[in-house]
Amino acid sequence: MLWKTPDMAREITKIGVIGLGTMGAGIVEVCARSGFEVVGVEMNADAVERGRGHLQNSTSRAVSRGKMSEEDQQALLGRVTTTDDLSALADCGLVIEAVPEVLSIKRDVFGKVDDIVADDAILATNTSSLSVTDIATATRAPSRVVGLHFFNPAPVQKLVEIIATVITAPDVLEDIRDIARRLDKEPVVVGDQAGFIANRLLLAYLNRAVSMYENRYASREDIDAAMTLGCGLPMGPLALLDLIGLDVAYAVLDTIYKEGRDKLHAPSPMLKHMIAAGLLGRKTGRGFYTYEKPGSGKVV
Ligand code: 3HC
Repeated sequence: MLWKTPDMAREITKIGVIGLGTMGAGIVEVCARSGFEVVGVEMNADAVERGRGHLQNSTSRAVSRGKMSEEDQQALLGRVTTTDDLSALADCGLVIEAVPEVLSIKRDVFGKVDDIVADDAILATNTSSLSVTDIATATRAPSRVVGLHFFNPAPVQKLVEIIATVITAPDVLEDIRDIARRLDKEPVVVGDQAGFIANRLLLAYLNRAVSMYENRYASREDIDAAMTLGCGLPMGPLALLDLIGLDVAYAVLDTIYKEGRDKLHAPSPMLKHMIAAGLLGRKTGRGFYTYEKPGSGKVV
């Protein structure tokens, strides 16, 4: 399949995704669902296996809910190759990075990928809050680097934030917007400011919910019920923090706070304590709530 409209500068048929954790595996699924060939890369064989497991579970769930046929699931999985070898990205027209939120790790990945892909390939980061400019300058051509921020669960949430830095080339911006639509997402474009639009607003609210709970102002159930039943949100803030991952939420808050020094974003101490205790949310089986098993959304 050739994904090129008259407006597009590039013909992109193959997308690489680096990092196959919750977000990366979800992004692989999104791309493969839209018919792209996908190469998923992780750092070692175990991590590759775990990433493949995420993809298998998520698509099997869609089959069991009658949302996808088994034939389509097999076709989707057939479009995805997974490996621990970055050089497999050589013929990808777009590479999306979804490794941990640590600037040095992201810069290292971008520096390496820059040497592997073709000169006109687009390099995108799924960073939640780090400076896209700081990531882009690890490459020889920062003008081809852009932010492409998905929301959790990536196969479900319609939004992607496209982050344009002062040096992102206009044709890169146009092409990434086009690809976002082909991935059946609604893109919004935002400048390179910590937290972009959604996390800057959302994390301040979630942080306040943690403070309320920490100060025993209300129970976790009542805080969550207030926001679901009173404000029509699909999940309460503490349940949502468990979905996002407390470590991810902390990293995002910390970055936004360091940039703006707005108290709203100063991470609540309880977040740090829970992270130290390994209570990261759904992925470890316990956060504000306790789950049936790690990765499950079923509260016990
Ligand atoms: N992966 C794939 N699909 C999933 C999924 C997952 N992890 N979780 C749910 N789904 C799908 C289900 O299969 C179902 O699909 P269907 O309608 O086609 O059958 C649909 O989503 C609804 O799922 P459920 O009926 O099981 O549950 P809910 O209706 O309660 O929805 C939810 C679950 C989609 C998680 C919903 O509660 C929600 O949207 N919550 C808010 C999530 C949110 O705010 N995300 C943004 C977080 S911020 C972020 O990610 C940024 C980062 O940088 C920190």
